[in-house]
Amino acid sequence: MQIKVSDTFLQPLIKINRTMRAKIVAGNWKMNKTAQEALTLTQEIIEGLKNVELGANKQVIVCPPSLYLSSVKNTTENSKLQVGAQNCHQNDFGAYTGEISVPMLQSLDIPYVILGHSERRTYFGETDEQIKEKVDKVLAYDLKVIYCCGELLAVRETGAYFDLVKQQISTALFHLTPTQLQNVVIAYEPVWAIGTGVTASPEQAEEMHAHIRHLIAEQYNQEIADQMTILYGGSCKPSNAASLFSKPNVDGGLIGGAALKADSFLGIIACM
Ligand code: 13P
Repeated sequence: MQIKVSDTFLQPLIKINRTMRAKIVAGNWKMNKTAQEALTLTQEIIEGLKNVELGANKQVIVCPPSLYLSSVKNTTENSKLQVGAQNCHQNDFGAYTGEISVPMLQSLDIPYVILGHSERRTYFGETDEQIKEKVDKVLAYDLKVIYCCGELLAVRETGAYFDLVKQQISTALFHLTPTQLQNVVIAYEPVWAIGTGVTASPEQAEEMHAHIRHLIAEQYNQEIADQMTILYGGSCKPSNAASLFSKPNVDGGLIGGAALKADSFLGIIACM
């Protein structure tokens, strides 16, 4: 006999699982802002956050260009704002002109690193294998990873997007121990939605986030899957953030363009 569990019974359970995991809004500034603009934006966000009750499980992060990590980090001292890097190299030190290493980030007390962003994959040829090495390096130094995955428009159109994201996640993350995985946040960023003004619908985001959580439950277990923070990224803005974040498997956002202005970034944070 099949027992049908009613939605009204399930709803509180979903809520419990959601409150267990961190909610995050992170701004990826990409290659934008001069030094002075970066500091002004940081100060404006800090000021705005004074009026926001974040609570224990909500976090706000900005990821400026690496050149400004030190000054932005200093500006955020004693504030609610955290700082992340946009990328790092997989080796500790050495002759890698133009690169930054995880020990360097650690020496600045930077807690987060974005890895696997589609722009790194597309313009700089980063492969899943390379990204895996970077993931391992970041975790070895006790920093946290914001791991980006997501399909190109061509893949969405063939319908193979669940398989593609499965491949990206399993190659880069599924060798990790459960303890290591606790220091990973996943960001689903469909490439067709990044910087295009075309946002995934809340339903499209939710079905992929649920898929990702299901993959983690299969590989590890349901409890670990329930603790994983999964962010949405791609043309997220104050006008669509509330409907995206209302979905049970969407735990916040990784924001590009709308993170470059304090009022729109704060508008998104208010939807968290
Ligand atoms: P947009 O919000 O500009 O679409 O960028 C998303 C993104 O790539 C964040 O990493």
